[in-house]
Amino acid sequence: MRILVLGGTRFLGRAVARLAHDRGYDVTCAARSVSGAPPAGPRFVPVDRDDPDGLAALDGGWFDAVVDVTRRVDHARYALDTLADRVGHWVFVSSVSVYADHSVPGRSVADTPLLPPAPDGVDGPGPDFRFYGECKVSIERAVLDRVGPDRAFVCRAGLIVGPEDTSDRFPYWVRRLADGGEVLAPGRPDEPVQWVDVEDLAAWLLHGATTRLGGTFDGTGPARGMAEVLAGIAAGVGRPDPRLTWVDGGFLRARDVRPWSGDRSLPLWVGGDPADAGFLARDVTDALAAGLTVRPVGASARATLDWMTSTPEAVRPGGLGRAVEAEVLREWHAERDG
Ligand SMILES: NC(=O)c1ccc[n+]([C@@H]2O[C@H](COP(=O)([O-])OP(=O)(O)OC[C@H]3O[C@@H](n4cnc5c(N)ncnc54)[C@H](OP(=O)(O)O)[C@@H]3O)[C@@H](O)[C@H]2O)c1
Repeated sequence: MRILVLGGTRFLGRAVARLAHDRGYDVTCAARSVSGAPPAGPRFVPVDRDDPDGLAALDGGWFDAVVDVTRRVDHARYALDTLADRVGHWVFVSSVSVYADHSVPGRSVADTPLLPPAPDGVDGPGPDFRFYGECKVSIERAVLDRVGPDRAFVCRAGLIVGPEDTSDRFPYWVRRLADGGEVLAPGRPDEPVQWVDVEDLAAWLLHGATTRLGGTFDGTGPARGMAEVLAGIAAGVGRPDPRLTWVDGGFLRARDVRPWSGDRSLPLWVGGDPADAGFLARDVTDALAAGLTVRPVGASARATLDWMTSTPEAVRPGGLGRAVEAEVLREWHAERDG
């Protein structure tokens, strides 16, 4: 079976290509090699998808499946123009960011309104991720229009975690809980968190590619409470029973502690905004029924820690600095304990 990965030089695309190669498939990765390098094993074809004919560098043969991770509408269109008639199954990695409304927990693919497609003249997200969701909507439509729903697996990924995640999100908690001591935990212990391990997602994408799974699914695991998640990460990194101090969201916001990611943030926390109450609480019954399997969060944490230890410079700095965390905890205890 021949599988083409459009991408494959970083994180998810690399994981798909590595797994497909390990399972004995004939794998080709096509990218520039700017973001990183493809895994050892698959054939690598250098291509530049900014060029409408860039994929002509691929041989003219048949691929049983393609996996495309692009965020760019023009790149997706060029790929469909070049390849749609010589690919058996099309797997597109989209995002839960396609949804227009994140306020309601427990929603599914079928009952969540979508953003509009990208406006005319917008081919890709801006540096601030502006129009990211809209571009994914446009690409989903282009794929479904060109290859049809039976030959397309559209996977709307949620937060992806695991080795080679260079963001400051999941790695923040891995590092923080591995360090031990009193840990500032945001908001309520039962606030939902939802994620998917990169290897589990890669396995499911490959399963979809090789079994010709058709349809649109959310690609994320079941939501769990923040307390369960932090305890699982702590156990995974060898620090069971972490000393968590739960600090009220309003108290954090008043001290400019921010949600989700970036400087002064407590990653994975959506910040208590009712508009985001369902962002990490989607109903993923369909995905699990269609073959997505999920490993315990501790296993993801362990693997992430091992990778971070071997490549300490790879993860973007971010999250709450230790001095700020200590100061906020001191103020919280002073207010609470008098
Ligand atoms: N990370 C998350 O938590 C998260 C959450 C939801 C959804 N997603 C989605 O999940 C997917 C993640 O994919 P990923 O981890 O493989 O990372 P990615 O950053 O989406 O990878 C983009 C790939 O496209 C290639 N590329 C970019 N410009 C190119 C060009 N001009 N010509 C040829 N190739 C080009 C890159 O390779 P070169 O630069 O080497 O060419 C790279 O391999 C994306 O679709 C993302 O939107 C991610």
